[in-house]
Amino acid sequence: MAHTIVIFGASGDLTSRKLIPALYRLHCQSRLPPETRIVGVARSKFSDDQWRKQLTESTQKFLGDQFDPEAWNSFIANVFYQPGDIQSAEDFQTLAARLQEIEGGRPTDRVYYIATMPQLYELAAAQLGQAGLADDSQAARRIVIEKPFGTDLQSARQLNASLFKVFREDQIYRIDHYLGKETVQNIMVLRFGNAIFEPLWNRNYVDHVQITVAEEVLVGRRGAYYDKSGVLRDMFQNHLFQLMMITAMEGPVKFNADLVRDEKVKVLQAVRPMQGADFAQCGVRGQYEGYRQEEGVAPDSPTETYAALRLHIDNWRWNGVPFYLRSAKAMSCRTTQIVLVFREPPHCLFGNSSKSSPLTNRLVIQIQPAEGIQIHFQSKVPDAGMKLRLSQLDFRFDRASGPMPDAYQRLLQDVLMGDASLFARSDEVELAWQIIDPIIAAWRSPAAPPLHTYPVGSWGPEAAQEWMEKQNRQWFDVCPVIH
Ligand code: BG6
Repeated sequence: MAHTIVIFGASGDLTSRKLIPALYRLHCQSRLPPETRIVGVARSKFSDDQWRKQLTESTQKFLGDQFDPEAWNSFIANVFYQPGDIQSAEDFQTLAARLQEIEGGRPTDRVYYIATMPQLYELAAAQLGQAGLADDSQAARRIVIEKPFGTDLQSARQLNASLFKVFREDQIYRIDHYLGKETVQNIMVLRFGNAIFEPLWNRNYVDHVQITVAEEVLVGRRGAYYDKSGVLRDMFQNHLFQLMMITAMEGPVKFNADLVRDEKVKVLQAVRPMQGADFAQCGVRGQYEGYRQEEGVAPDSPTETYAALRLHIDNWRWNGVPFYLRSAKAMSCRTTQIVLVFREPPHCLFGNSSKSSPLTNRLVIQIQPAEGIQIHFQSKVPDAGMKLRLSQLDFRFDRASGPMPDAYQRLLQDVLMGDASLFARSDEVELAWQIIDPIIAAWRSPAAPPLHTYPVGSWGPEAAQEWMEKQNRQWFDVCPVIH
């Protein structure tokens, strides 16, 4: 069956930087279904040719050497543009007619990719419904919703309810681009495709888990958005929780969308709700120095650009094992990593462990920009009696395979194939907000823990180091070596 991908918000950044390059790469790899057409929709009054010209320039610039004019010409011939305003029901009728014309009136599977401003998501779905564009009696109709999916539980529920008036859950694809990253999917392979890790992956062997998404960048031009959002909404509710769910979930019976997501949801259901003093003790808040002078940021902004949170997952596997989640901008380097810190050996034969060099083993899963896995273990220093030192087994994806595809490539391909395993389900998104909302509320109240500042290019506030030390633990603050 032929496919049409309709992108709403076609003139936006996401379309030119991510969606079109990803679709073009899929085309080059012959991974797009035959007869795939792309239709951009936005308010600007472009012709097909004008939009094609723009995309040619932006993709060429973006892909550099990887841009192949011949492959591009065969790709761009199937790209069209239809001016349209999400507010206008009439424009949706015109779009319906244009799609019929482009598809030659034949039944064609369609993907509606909503990459507009978040305020328009609900309206876009409603207009699609009203114009009869969601009717899937002849061919598939799928809708992709970009993030953010709501700004709190109530708005996420409302968005889900609006989508369900027009689409069924199995037609809705909620994007979290972290799930499209190869190294994130590999966590499931590491855990459930091997026999040697899973027996250790629990409270009997793991002392605690650290999930860090550190970014070097500042808020840049996104100050106005970021100041309303803050790191808990921008990174925790979605990306960090996804990493936590995949790290903590039980193995699904089969690798299919619903069974995988059932297991992920159970993790969120097991997160211990906080109350009272918990909110002040569960983490550390920070803001980088100079944040309040950024464009679009309030001069007395209370917004966190750094947060560290300790969550407990109350189930048989993880009881008593804290999960430390941490994310920030303006950090000393860009690194996303998951570290399982194991318990110390029960009996120490070779000298005592100390606070600065505990005899713990670590499994470090590097998500990006380094992509690999390391096991840290003790080994004997040769010719030095029984002195120990930390050594590592080091796996790097770039040695084992070529460059990694962009997350959007995999996600778009999955939508076209109707596989929702790597997309968030309605209950998952709502549960995530249910956990984050009370923390945000408490952190905006007089009971909030202090907001510490930290220098740009550091590992966050010193208070975060002290907070960990009080718990007899240490952050694994290591910038990855990439090559
Ligand atoms: C986005 C956030 O969802 O993820 C950004 O809005 C953040 O603030 C980005 O920079 C990080 O994504 P990645 O793939 O670069 O880690």
